[in-house]
Amino acid sequence: MRAVQIDRRGGPEVLTVREIPEPVPAEGEVLVAVTASSLNPVDWKTRARQVGPPLPATLGWDLAGRVVAGEGPGYRVGDEVIAMSAQIATGRGTWSELVALPAHLLAPAPTSLPLAQSAALPLAGTTALQALRAAELGPGERLLITGAVGGVGALAVQLARHTGTQVDALVSRPEHAAAAAESGAGQTWHRTADLPVGHYHAILDTAGVDVSNALVQGGRYLSISDNPLPAVLGARKSYVQENATDLTHLTKLIDTGALRLRIAEHHPVTHIRTAHEHFEAGGLLGKVLITF
Ligand SMILES: NC(=O)c1ccc[n+]([C@@H]2O[C@H](COP(=O)([O-])OP(=O)(O)OC[C@H]3O[C@@H](n4cnc5c(N)ncnc54)[C@H](OP(=O)(O)O)[C@@H]3O)[C@@H](O)[C@H]2O)c1
Repeated sequence: MRAVQIDRRGGPEVLTVREIPEPVPAEGEVLVAVTASSLNPVDWKTRARQVGPPLPATLGWDLAGRVVAGEGPGYRVGDEVIAMSAQIATGRGTWSELVALPAHLLAPAPTSLPLAQSAALPLAGTTALQALRAAELGPGERLLITGAVGGVGALAVQLARHTGTQVDALVSRPEHAAAAAESGAGQTWHRTADLPVGHYHAILDTAGVDVSNALVQGGRYLSISDNPLPAVLGARKSYVQENATDLTHLTKLIDTGALRLRIAEHHPVTHIRTAHEHFEAGGLLGKVLITF
């Protein structure tokens, strides 16, 4: 079967689509035939930097596909599923025609979307949900989300709006303002210098920018970025955890129309280098999918 692997760190040229042996599911694991995955910043960081499992390694965190073997509570052969696999920690990459995963990581795929599109959901959606939970938003509070049209940010804006929070957005360029508004953002900014000082009860930073001036005294500042936290009381990082209960919740939100995914591009897996180049260039509105 084909998988996207790296043998060394570097640019997109180190990505190789090659034949590797099919995985054999262990007890408690399910074998999934992958329909699609998506690109997340962690993938190019793992490709380019000294992070992640020993090489050669199969990359990829997201998965949408069909169960082909193995057993798990509630899953049968043919079921359409999604999953997030913490590749950096476990070495279990999803950019492979077949992936064996512990059954407890699987969630039902949304039924209201083509299966491939739901590959945009797992890592970005779980990160957004868990970071917002950590922000402990109260009714009527004001929240600022930076990187608000990015993979995580676009979902975080929608999720926060559904809880009744007033959400404003910081985007990288003015032409992204309309997309932030479509997700439910109130005011959209594209320059940090324009942000109101001491205004937000909570801030979720997905862009790695210091916007701590905009936080009310005693507010909560959550960052998912690799950049150091600003020196402000209440600042902390949120790290995504594999959690199929959260994924199942996200699937329901998609199927009720409460959450929408935006797809910018999809590429066959054989074009994985081009997919990385486009993704790293930035400026996209939506996720980049790779299909098998
Ligand atoms: N801690 C965790 O568990 C966790 C989980 C998931 C992701 N992450 C990290 O979180 C970050 C975001 O992930 P993602 O998937 O959302 O990435 P993404 O899809 O690339 O989105 C990032 C967004 O931030 C925007 N941006 C960049 N600089 C900005 C600035 N100065 N002001 C406003 N917006 C800016 C980008 O715009 P342009 O494209 O125009 O530059 C893009 O829309 C990445 O660093 C990723 O590694 C961490």
